[in-house]
Amino acid sequence: MDASDVLSLCKRRGFLYPSYEIYGGVAGLYDYGPLGTAMRNNIVEIWRRLYTLGEGFVEIDSETIGPEVVFKASGHVDEFADKMVKCKVCEEAYRADHLIGDRHPNPGSLKEEELDDLIREHGITCPACSGELSSVEEFNLMFKTVIGPGSGRVGYLRPETAQGIFVNFPSLYRYNREKLPLGVIQVGRGYRNEISPRQGVIRMREFNMMECELFVDPEDKGWPRFKDVKDDRMRLFANDGRELEISVGDAVEQGIICNQVLAYFMWFTQEFLKAIGVDGTRLRFRQHEKDEMAHYAADCWDAEALLSFGWTEIVGIADRGCWDLSRHIKFSGVDMSAFKRFDTPQEVERDVIKPKYGILGPKYKALGSKIGKAMEATDPSLIKDDSVTVEVDGQSYVLSRDCFDVARVKEKVSGVKVIPHVIEPSHGLDRITYTCLEHAYTKKEDMEMLRISAAIAPIKFGVFPLMARDELDKVAMDIDQEIRYSGIETYYDDSGSIGRRYARMDEIGTPYCVTVDYQTLEDGTVTLRERDSQAQIRVKVQEITLVARAALCGANLDQFVVGENKS
Ligand code: ATP
Ligand code: GLY
Repeated sequence: MDASDVLSLCKRRGFLYPSYEIYGGVAGLYDYGPLGTAMRNNIVEIWRRLYTLGEGFVEIDSETIGPEVVFKASGHVDEFADKMVKCKVCEEAYRADHLIGDRHPNPGSLKEEELDDLIREHGITCPACSGELSSVEEFNLMFKTVIGPGSGRVGYLRPETAQGIFVNFPSLYRYNREKLPLGVIQVGRGYRNEISPRQGVIRMREFNMMECELFVDPEDKGWPRFKDVKDDRMRLFANDGRELEISVGDAVEQGIICNQVLAYFMWFTQEFLKAIGVDGTRLRFRQHEKDEMAHYAADCWDAEALLSFGWTEIVGIADRGCWDLSRHIKFSGVDMSAFKRFDTPQEVERDVIKPKYGILGPKYKALGSKIGKAMEATDPSLIKDDSVTVEVDGQSYVLSRDCFDVARVKEKVSGVKVIPHVIEPSHGLDRITYTCLEHAYTKKEDMEMLRISAAIAPIKFGVFPLMARDELDKVAMDIDQEIRYSGIETYYDDSGSIGRRYARMDEIGTPYCVTVDYQTLEDGTVTLRERDSQAQIRVKVQEITLVARAALCGANLDQFVVGENKS
C-alpha cells in the first residue's frame, strides 16, 4: 500500500477532492467531500470534548486575518521562513531540507550554508529536470494581504490559530476570574505559503488546526492529574539520540521531558490519537533539536506517525515559555501579566522607571502619555546605555536618561505580577485525519477496506433490505429512520447484491450493517454485521437503537443476541 491507494479511495468515495480540479487544481489546496467532512468533524468533536469537558478548558473562535503588528510581535514576519532552492533551468522551487532527505539525520535543523554544502557534496539536482540548483535562501511562509481599500494597512492570514488566543489573553484571564492555569482551545484554519506542497493533505497551503494554549504559573509547571498517568508509557526519540519506551513519570524524573505539564499533555495527545484510531505501534514523540525549534519554543516534541511517507509530524507540543505574551506586551504596551496572590501580604522594595511627563509631553505631543505608560511598564533592568526602548503602536521609541528617573520604592504587596508561561499542543487536523485513514486502510485481493474507529466513522450503520420488495424495504427504511432520528448516521442501500453492499460500506469504514430479511417479517429480528470480524448476530428490531448505541460504545452485545446466531 502507498499513499496513492489511500488518496485515490478518498477521492473516489468522497473523503477528499483536490480543490479547483476543473481548472487543473492548485498544489496544496484540498476540499473535504461529504464523508471527509463528517469524519473530520467527528475528530474535532472528540478533541473538543476531551479538552473542555475532560480538562475544563474554554474554547474561542478568533479571526483568521490579523494586522501586521500582531505578526511582527509574534515573530512570524521576521522569522517564519523555510529554506528554499530553485532550479536554474525550470525554475521549480523546493524545500532544501526535503531535498537532502535521509542524507542527514535531521536536515530541518541545518543552516543555509550547511544545506548548500550538502547539496554540492551529494550532487543534488532538480528532481524534475536534473537542472542545477540555486543557492539556498529563506522564503517567508506568510500570506500577505491588505486590510481595507486603497492604501489600507498590511495584514496577514494567520499561520497558526495561537496568536488569536494570545492577543485575547487579558480578556480570557478576566473571564477565568484571574486564575491560572487557564487552558484555551481553538479550532480553525491556518495559512502557510508552503514552498512545494506534495504528499496530499500532509502539506497544504490552507489547513485546519486544533490548538490549545495552556497558560501556567512560570514557577509551577506541575499538573494535578500527572500522578494518575505517570506509570503509562510513551515512545520517545530524544534529541540526544536515545530512543526509549519509558513511563511518563520516569521521563520527567530523568529530565528527558522538562516538566510535568508538557509530559502530561504529550500523554494526553497520545491517548487522544489512539482513541480516534491512530495505531499506537506507529506513533512516537520526537524531540526537536535545539536549533530546529521554532523561534518561540523553549522545548518541543512532535507526535509523529509512521505513514507511507515515513515518520511524519502530526502534532507539535511546545513549551513556548513567556515568548508570546512578552512580545505582545512589548508591541502593544498593554499589561498582559497575571497576578499571583501571596498567602499574606509582603513588603517588597523594587526599582521603577519614572517617566518625566514634563519632557515627554512637549517632545511627543499626544503620544507622550502612551510612551510614558509603556516606560512605567518596562522593567528597569532593560535600561541599556542609559536609554530605554519602548514600542508604541508598532513603532520603537528610544528614550534617553533626561526623559526618566529610576526610583526605589517600598510597597506592601498582596502578590506579584507574572507573565504566564504557555504549553501548547498544536494539532494538524488534516494530517491527523489522513493518519486515521492510512492506518485504517487495508487491501485484500483488490477489496479495499477502512477499519476506521467507530468513534470517527462518518457513517456508523449501513441499513439494507435483502430485497427491495415484499415489505422488506419498508421495514428497512423505518429502521434506518429510527437510528438516524436517534442521532446516529446511517446509509440506506437497496441496490446490488448484499455482498456488494457490505463491500461498499467496508470501503468507507462503516463499522456496522443491519440487514432486513424474510425472517425479520416472521420474528422481528435483523442481522447485525460487524465490519472487522465480519461476525453476524441477530437482534430485535424493537431494540435496534439500544443495540446501535451499545455497539458504538464498544459494549458487549451478547445480551442483545436472539435466535439461532447466538454464539
Ligand atoms: P513541518 O515541519 O512539517 O512543516 P511544522 O513544524 O512547521 O511542520 P507546526 O508549526 O508545529 O508544524 O504546526 C503545528 C501542526 O500543524 C503540525 O504538527 C502539523 O500537523 C500541522 N501543519 C503544519 N503545517 C502544515 C501544512 N502545511 N499542512 C497541513 N498541516 C500542517
Ligand atoms: N502554533 C504552533 C505552530 O503553528 O507552530
